[in-house]
Amino acid sequence: MTFIFRELIKKKRDGDALTEDEIRWMISTYSKGEIPDYQMSAMLMAIYHSSMTKDEAVVLTDAMKNSGKVLDLSSIEKPKIDKHSTGGVGDKTSMILGPMAAAAGLAVPMMAGRGLGHTGGTLDKLEAIPGFNIEQSESRFKEILNEVGICIIGQSSEICPADKKLYALRDVTATVESIPLICASIMSKKLAEGIDGIVLDVKFGSGAFMKSLLEAKTLAQSLCDIGSGSGKKVTAVLSNMNQVLGRYVGNATEMLECIEILNNPKSHPKYFDTVELSIHLCAEMLLMAGVADSLDAGIKKAKQVLEDGSAFAVFEKMVKLQGGDLKGMPQPYEAYDYKAAKSGCIGEINPEKIGIAGIRLRAGREKTSDQIDPRSGFEVLVKIGDQVRAGDVLCKVFAKTPLEAEAAFDMLHDAFRIVADTIKPVDLIGERILSN
Ligand code: URA
Repeated sequence: MTFIFRELIKKKRDGDALTEDEIRWMISTYSKGEIPDYQMSAMLMAIYHSSMTKDEAVVLTDAMKNSGKVLDLSSIEKPKIDKHSTGGVGDKTSMILGPMAAAAGLAVPMMAGRGLGHTGGTLDKLEAIPGFNIEQSESRFKEILNEVGICIIGQSSEICPADKKLYALRDVTATVESIPLICASIMSKKLAEGIDGIVLDVKFGSGAFMKSLLEAKTLAQSLCDIGSGSGKKVTAVLSNMNQVLGRYVGNATEMLECIEILNNPKSHPKYFDTVELSIHLCAEMLLMAGVADSLDAGIKKAKQVLEDGSAFAVFEKMVKLQGGDLKGMPQPYEAYDYKAAKSGCIGEINPEKIGIAGIRLRAGREKTSDQIDPRSGFEVLVKIGDQVRAGDVLCKVFAKTPLEAEAAFDMLHDAFRIVADTIKPVDLIGERILSN
């Protein structure tokens, strides 16, 4: 069966549902390179505006999953549990909790993504490590998983090729913030991984794709429905993205925060929120796998493997097996201080604006062909509720030139709001939604 793609775009643009045949044909034809990106961009924008029914989203997910191979990990005996985030700024938990979960006895087959919109991507961050290879053959992926308990790869021409292409296109066409597109992108990858279950970190707030808690809950429920409909265990944890997670934003910059957390427990106070969320999500993974019999027991185990160095040992081994060399880590560019214009309390931070300023510094992409600069980014020194004085440094900008730092400063003016009132710190971890 074939279709005229322009007519399908028109149908979706006008708010009608696509049929199962139309969706499957669209995904297989696009994956083969027979639909040009300019037409697919128009379709993505039509989906963004007209959305999709639940049935359409389920078919889209399945078609994307089946655009490549579905991995068979039945030869791996350990429970196979992954975690995925819906996207945030400074969110580097995968590189911390993945090794923690593996050190605690799980297999973590993780297919991650690149930067998306204003948010950073695990793959771009890992590629800041010289030599780190996110493309592994199926057999090598299994070998690494067997040897160290974790392997982090990207979508490829073999696994989830439809998401590889659509993800890159959504990144640069302002079509990310769509519940069916996010669900299909995340769940197609997760279902292709051959996992038993998945913990989802569903973010809400100004730095997330879902700005309101209500939208995030709807997204979480849709993700859970699609996962459980495919026989997987799913737990979604809602987390607050109204401020940058941890201190660093960027690629090498965020990796350095991960390495410091894994390698040096004494650095934890500075990175308290990155550590808290990593431990919490890891505990959910251990609970799902039956390795812990309660969330508290999972938290205890997660803390133990972080503090006794076993998570760092797993991380170092994973990096080595995936071709990386931690000794050659690129260092951030020279820091330019962005200072508070007045005294008061940090009332609001807008991580989306910080993420967009990062794109200007090439920490993210404006076009699909853009190369990431791993050395640029930010260190955000304040959290909501902190008291500051005029002239205090709010944020360090790591920029290649003073001119680039100046351009980033211009974009940071709206990113921090200082108020006279006292503001309470925000709660990081919210509600938990379980699949049926
Ligand atoms: N992560 C993904 O893999 N896809 C999205 O659309 C958002 C977050």
